[in-house]
Amino acid sequence: QVLNGQGMLLVPAFIDLHAHLREPGQEYKEDIASGLAAAAAGGFAHVCVMPNTRPVNDTRAITEMMVARAREVGGPALHPIGAITVGQKGKELAEMADMKEAGAVAVSDDGHCVTSSAVMRRALEYASTFDMPVIQHAEDHALTEGAQMHEGAISTRLGLRGWPRVAEDIIVARDVLLAEVTGARYHVAHVSSLGAVRILREAKGRGIAVTAEVTPHHLTLTDEAVIGYDTVCKVNPPLREQADVDALREALADGTIDVIATDHAPHSSLEKDCEFAEASPGMIGLELVVPVLLGLVRSGALSLGRLVDALTRAPGRVIGLGAPTLAVGQRAELCLIDPERRYRIDPARLRSKSRNTPFLGRELVGQVCLTLAGGRVVFADSLVEAQSSAPRGPGGPVS
Ligand code: DOR
Repeated sequence: QVLNGQGMLLVPAFIDLHAHLREPGQEYKEDIASGLAAAAAGGFAHVCVMPNTRPVNDTRAITEMMVARAREVGGPALHPIGAITVGQKGKELAEMADMKEAGAVAVSDDGHCVTSSAVMRRALEYASTFDMPVIQHAEDHALTEGAQMHEGAISTRLGLRGWPRVAEDIIVARDVLLAEVTGARYHVAHVSSLGAVRILREAKGRGIAVTAEVTPHHLTLTDEAVIGYDTVCKVNPPLREQADVDALREALADGTIDVIATDHAPHSSLEKDCEFAEASPGMIGLELVVPVLLGLVRSGALSLGRLVDALTRAPGRVIGLGAPTLAVGQRAELCLIDPERRYRIDPARLRSKSRNTPFLGRELVGQVCLTLAGGRVVFADSLVEAQSSAPRGPGGPVS
């Protein structure tokens, strides 16, 4: 197949460390097939899926079921993340070693941290015996219960209960210290606060085995997006202030934050078309990474090299998967991007079953045109398809 890729960017296909694909149990929001289709359209060859399914993925059997279902579907590879504790209830350690054997690449807690210091320490000690990274959503539930958005001037104005930065900072600090004493590999999910950035920078400076990720929405939006009580902007951790966004961008640039991860969190319209207090937190993200983040590259806030590294090599390192490669003789995992294509994010064209994103209807620039995963085309947009079916030879497609 010969494609005209003039003016396009050819990069390794992406690895997402943090997606919620909802199967088993909440397939009305998303399932493995629709989630992987969305991932392919977003440029991903690998997707790590969080364990807060129904039931929670805390066993070998559920891990195996997810892997088998993904193989049936085809498309990007799915890598389960097991629960740290049984039922994510924070008490009894789950069978991490069994889940690893079945294909799990890490373990993680739930969105609300109910894991005590003692249990977290045991989890880190146990996981380190077979080199499994432990992922922490970093939220001290005692400080966030009932919170609806970031705690600050806007939450006060809107009369919504706030989620203070310190609720994140406390858990990151606690677990960095536990990682230091246990020597375990600790990864912080969706960092959102400038305090957490400071703690991570210091920890890395002292050589502690910590890595961290940031989402596209925390890099681009602030709590001002919540002013109209728009429930699609309700997310955990919450959208914070410009000072936090600036700190996150700087941390991504200097490597304090290693990875960009989507925290793709689909919810049905019923769960978002309601009062702010009742709405489920979360945004979809798999299909929006490229158009949202190329905007940061264009404005000079993020270099293209760092963007690609944070979506490929860096997450690959966390889960022990080499970066997808363009090397000859390997199964191709690559993504072709038209960096100039301008279009409106159209709900009808999203592969995800859910529509909960504040970027819906926005005009953005930059489109994934082709994704190869495991040596196979898993996504081709209509322009690429038209080119591929065009006759070869003079006047036909050229490389
Ligand atoms: O807003 C969120 N929603 N943050 C998370 O970490 C979990 C997610 C979900 O599962 O809906």
